[in-house]
This record gives sequence, C-alpha cells and structure tokens, in this order.
Amino acid sequence: MVTGSFKFANLVMIFYLFITLIYLSSHFIGHLRQNFSTVSLHPRLDQISPETEALLSAQHVLWSSLGSNRLYPFYFKARAVSSNSPHDVTITTLVTPHRLDALERLAHHYQGPISAVLHIYDDDSDPTIQAKVLDRVKKLYARQPNMQHFVDLHVVIDKYERQFNMWRNLAKLYARTEYILMLDVDFLVSPSVRSVLTTLPPKTMDAVRQGAAALVLPAFEELLDSSNSSNSSSNNTRRTALDNNKSNILGMLNDTGFFPSTKEELITEVNNGRVAMFHKFWLKGHGSTNYTKWYTSSSVYKVTDYNFAYEPYVIVKKEGTAWCDERFIGYGANKAACHFELYVSGMEYFVLPDDYLLHQYHPYPEQTRSYERHLNKKLYEHFREEICFRYARSMMARGVWNTKKSTNIKKECHKIRHWNSLIRGAH
Ligand SMILES: *[C@@H]1O[C@H](CO)[C@@H](O)[C@H](O)[C@H]1NC(C)=O
Ligand SMILES: *[C@@H]1O[C@H](CO)[C@@H](O)[C@H](O)[C@H]1NC(C)=O
Ligand SMILES: *[C@@H]1O[C@H](CO)[C@@H](O)[C@H](O)[C@H]1NC(C)=O
Ligand SMILES: *[C@@H]1O[C@H](CO)[C@@H](O)[C@H](O)[C@H]1NC(C)=O
Ligand SMILES: *[C@@H]1O[C@H](CO)[C@@H](O)[C@H](O)[C@H]1NC(C)=O
Ligand SMILES: *[C@@H]1O[C@H](CO)[C@@H](O)[C@H](O)[C@H]1NC(C)=O
Ligand SMILES: *[C@@H]1O[C@H](CO)[C@@H](O)[C@H](O)[C@H]1NC(C)=O
Repeated sequence: MVTGSFKFANLVMIFYLFITLIYLSSHFIGHLRQNFSTVSLHPRLDQISPETEALLSAQHVLWSSLGSNRLYPFYFKARAVSSNSPHDVTITTLVTPHRLDALERLAHHYQGPISAVLHIYDDDSDPTIQAKVLDRVKKLYARQPNMQHFVDLHVVIDKYERQFNMWRNLAKLYARTEYILMLDVDFLVSPSVRSVLTTLPPKTMDAVRQGAAALVLPAFEELLDSSNSSNSSSNNTRRTALDNNKSNILGMLNDTGFFPSTKEELITEVNNGRVAMFHKFWLKGHGSTNYTKWYTSSSVYKVTDYNFAYEPYVIVKKEGTAWCDERFIGYGANKAACHFELYVSGMEYFVLPDDYLLHQYHPYPEQTRSYERHLNKKLYEHFREEICFRYARSMMARGVWNTKKSTNIKKECHKIRHWNSLIRGAH
C-alpha cells in the first residue's frame, strides 16, 4: 500500500512536470514563431536567445532521444520562405556534412521551402571539424542563391550519430508551412509537387487538411549502370546514404542529377532498366504503394495493403500528426516506426498519380549496421505493441473507438497476442 501511494505520488509529480514542460515549450515555440518573418543570412551560432535555450532544454527532457549537446535552429534562415502560402509544401530532411552537395542539388531542383537539419559530429580527435564544416556551409550559402532563398538550416552538434527520428522531428518542428514532405536528402522530386495540393479532389484535400490523410509519392531509384540493370541496383542498401564517413566529410561525391521530367519519361526509363522502384529487393518497404497500379493510374488511389515495414515518402499536415519516435537511433525501422504510428492513429494513405521521387545514385562504401538493425528490430516489436495499446486507449477515451478512425488500428493490431481479450476488458 505504501509503495502504491508512493508510486501514485511519483506519477502525479511526473505528470505535473510533463504538463509544465509542454506549457513552457509551447510558449517558447509561439514566441519563436513571432520572429519567423525576420530574415537573416547570418549564422546565428552566437545569437541563441535565453528563450531558445530554455525551449531546447525542455525538449531534451521531453524527448526520448539520446540527447543533443547543441542545437541551433535557423542557423541559416531562408529569404523566400513564407508561412502565408497555405498550400505550399516544405521538404523536411536531414543532412550530414558529406552530403551537403545533395542538399544543394535538392534546393536547386525543388525551388521551394526546405527545412533541413545538419548534424555535425562532435569529434574529439578533430576539434576543428565544426569550424571547417560551418565555414563550408557559409560558402555554400554565399555562392548558391537557391540555398539562400529556400533552405532553413538547423544545426545539431553532438556525439550522437544517426538519431534520425530526432532530426526528422526537428526538421518538422521548424518547418514554416502547414504541409511537409518528409524526404531523404538524396532524392529529387517531380516538378509539380509544390502545387500538388491545389490539384487534389476536394474530399482527399479535406482529409489532408484535417491531418487524416498522407499523400504518398512513389519512389524510384536510378540504377548504377544504365546499360545493365543486373549489375545495377546492388544489394547495398542505400540507407548508408546518411552514413557519416568522416574521411569523406570534406570530400565531394559525384551525382549525375538525372531526372525524368514527366511520368511518361519515367516509365520509359523503367522499361529501359535505367530506373526501378526504390529498394526493389526489399518489397515490404515500398511495395504497398503498388507500382503496377501506379503506372496506369491517373487519379489518386488508396493504399490497401499496409504492412508495418512500409516506409513511403509522404506529404502530411504538420500540426496534429504523430511525431517520429526518437527511441529509434541508427539504422533499421526508424522511418517505418514513424509510419506505424501515423497509420495506427488512423491516417489514410493515398498515392499521388502524377508525382514521383527519384533517388540519386551515389557511390558509397557499404557499411552494414547489423548491430543497430538487430537492436531496432527488437525495439520495433515492442514499440508496435505499445503503440497499439496506447492508441486503443486513447481512442476509447476520446469516444472514437467505434468510428472510422479505428479502422487501421483494428486491422493492424489484432495480430498482437491477447489483443482481443485485453481490448474487450478495456471498454
Ligand atoms: C525576436 O526579434 C526581436 C528583434 O529582432 C528580438 O529582440 C527578440 O529577442 C527576438 N525573439 C526571439 C525569441 O528570438
Ligand atoms: C548485364 O551484365 C551481365 C554480367 O556482366 C551480363 O551477363 C548480361 O548479359 C548483361 N545484361 C545486359 C542487358 O546487358
Ligand atoms: C558491377 O559494377 C561494379 C562497379 O562499377 C564493377 O566493379 C563490377 O565488375 C560489375 N560487375 C559486373 C558483374 O558487371
Ligand atoms: C541480393 O541479395 C540476395 C540475397 O542476399 C541475393 O540472392 C541476390 O543475388 C543479390 N542480388 C544482387 C544484385 O546482388
Ligand atoms: C570513407 O570513404 C573513403 C573514400 O571514399 C574510403 O576510402 C574509406 O574506406 C571510407 N571509410 C569507411 C570507414 O568506410
Ligand atoms: C561525375 O561523373 C561523370 C560521369 O561518370 C563524369 O563525367 C564527371 O567528370 C564526374 N564528375 C566529378 C566531379 O567527378
Ligand atoms: C495492385 O494493383 C493491381 C492493379 O490495379 C491489382 O490487380 C493488385 O491486386 C494490386 N495489388 C495489391 C497488393 O493490392
């Protein structure tokens, strides 16, 4: 009994702290927003306000990542990004120093708002690395108008590599439009993506506006050797794209920048074996998009065979949609976990018929991160159960358990052992 009430008091205390922190962080986020209209092309490394510091430390407590020593939101702030274009889409993405060239190419190609998190590894063996990288970033902004116009750059400096979901959340948190496209930096997007929200059927757009629908952009990849597809899309999972090869940090990688400008041209390239669906060897990742259907579709269609490894690139509403769970650190399951939570929360996935993404090939030393993958596989199993029960209880509490909102959770979560009996007991 004594321990019971002690636990209860603890819970109350934690709850109180939690609410306080949420209040504080929303207060400071609101405060920061007021300054979004100001324009600066000057590094803000030394200009962190006390409010921002407080916000960041609040986030450190709230967030479940390993942590971050230093975080500089809007280290560079884009000139041409405005929060007043309701249908604009901000690309949210992550970049490490050796992939800055990809960010530059994306900005050049997209000509639209980008919210990018740059992670710099705090390397004791090379204390000059931060200055070197930041200097390179400054030069990049100085010579590249597309970076100045479109790219908000948020810098994270710490010793924790591959905290992809924390970085994803930051890029989303600081995006300045209502809709975001969660993308990896080594993709290019079809030209009409920025205005695609104005072309949707009203019903689909309503769902997107309510944060109840995600729009899938089918992803493709350029094959290594255009004349021979059998030696092309090697098994090297291109996930190493985000890998931080320190000896490469100041090096440049070669990208072809090839991009088919229409769906027809893309399909021709697919038939020629120059381009294929992204990660064809791992069908669970993107197969649910149903590429065969996409090739002949001229209207938006719904994803009907979701699986928990599905990790499409999507446009979603920024506010009110689930964040990525930051306990996933390193390779494996991190992006799938973002989607699992979105899906279980009731999100419907619709595939856009005319837009697409193309992964840009870049040569990479393969570094298998099997340790991280194994770890995350285990974490993901537990995570799925947790998410299922958490959202089930939340939906019951909100009185939406018997509505359309629970279609996905019922479809996906009944695979959990004892799900039916536990859920029956709960309501
Ligand atoms: C907003 O900008 C004003 C004027 O530049 C500055 O005084 C204020 O500290 C800024 N607030 C934040 C939260 O950065
Ligand atoms: C691709 O390369 C393999 C191995 O070099 C070869 O056997 C095959 O015929 C080539 N295919 C095409 C379409 O060129
Ligand atoms: C595949 O491509 C790599 C890199 O270009 C080359 O070293 C290798 O010989 C190729 N293999 C075949 C079977 O063509
Ligand atoms: C990819 O890996 C699978 C299984 O590991 C193997 O059977 C297949 O031949 C590989 N394909 C290529 C192109 O290396
Ligand atoms: C990093 O890249 C360099 C140059 O591409 C390569 O020689 C080196 O082996 C890579 N390092 C690791 C740890 O893979
Ligand atoms: C990139 O690759 C292309 C085609 O292989 C080559 O012509 C070009 O010189 C390369 N550029 C760099 C900077 O290595
Ligand atoms: C994909 O689409 C095709 C054509 O519309 C359809 O026949 C097939 O059943 C779909 N596959 C899945 C898994 O839904």
